[in-house]
Amino acid sequence: MTCDSAESRDDERDPVLAAWRAAGIEGRAVRWDDPGVDWSVFDAAVVRSVWDYVDRRPEFLAWAKATAGVTRLLNPAPILDANTDKTYLRELGLPAVPTHWSADDLPDWPEYVVKPAVSAGARDTIRTTDRAVARAHAQALTDAGRTPMVQPYLDMVEAEGETSLLYFNRTFSHAVRRNAMLAGGQTLADNGRADLRTPAPDLVELAEKVLAAVPGDLLYARVDLIRLPDGSPALMELELTEPYLYLSHMDGAADRLAQALTELL
Ligand SMILES: Nc1ncnc2c1ncn2[C@@H]1O[C@H](COP(=O)(O)OP(=O)(O)O)[C@@H](O)[C@H]1O
Ligand SMILES: [Mg+2]
Repeated sequence: MTCDSAESRDDERDPVLAAWRAAGIEGRAVRWDDPGVDWSVFDAAVVRSVWDYVDRRPEFLAWAKATAGVTRLLNPAPILDANTDKTYLRELGLPAVPTHWSADDLPDWPEYVVKPAVSAGARDTIRTTDRAVARAHAQALTDAGRTPMVQPYLDMVEAEGETSLLYFNRTFSHAVRRNAMLAGGQTLADNGRADLRTPAPDLVELAEKVLAAVPGDLLYARVDLIRLPDGSPALMELELTEPYLYLSHMDGAADRLAQALTELL
């Protein structure tokens, strides 16, 4: 389901529904928070563009739990629960972007990124060289009851970019290189740009370790990786809730998603 509206259109919705139809799966877009929906009439409910959960996470997770009680929710509710708060990065035990989880005792880094643990689309995220500014933003997030994440700004995002690897039912489909979202001097369109790329073997290896650390059904997974200054790969984010899937970048990607759904049903 979706939070689709005229203002924020999910442009992957129609291609996905068409691919499902071709695979014999009748689907339709439904708002997750529509109180008039009887979820039990569906064989499955697939979470897609629920971008508005960020401000309503408790409501969204309660909905997920209730819906999972009456139909097959994909991805499953416990996965959504864990994945919508980036503190999961601490628990994976795999290489991730170095993160300081408090407004106190910030490390000395040339440049900082400060973001909330519950976010999407780089919302409430700042980039600054000023340690006091970084501290103040982390403190403001803390004061608002949110968990701050303070990271070094990794300028590799501007050179090699961030690599997103897409997996459907744990099978690799395709990967894209995404432009840096916090780099200066770019238009918004540039920020959203992505190009198909063949991921380096060390990126594939880390992505598969990350997925292996998550038990349960994964209809879709996007593993966002970046390189640290020493060249080693690190996890920026594991997107198991509402990732954009870059389906139009790769022939057959929507069909592979339909195939994965068929397998799980
Ligand atoms: N430490 C960092 N160094 C460089 N760029 C970053 C860093 N953290 C985030 N960004 C940029 O901001 C974007 C959004 O951050 P991310 O952690 O993926 O959160 P979300 O996508 O949930 O908002 C990333 O895709 C990346 O382009
Ligand atoms: Mg992200």
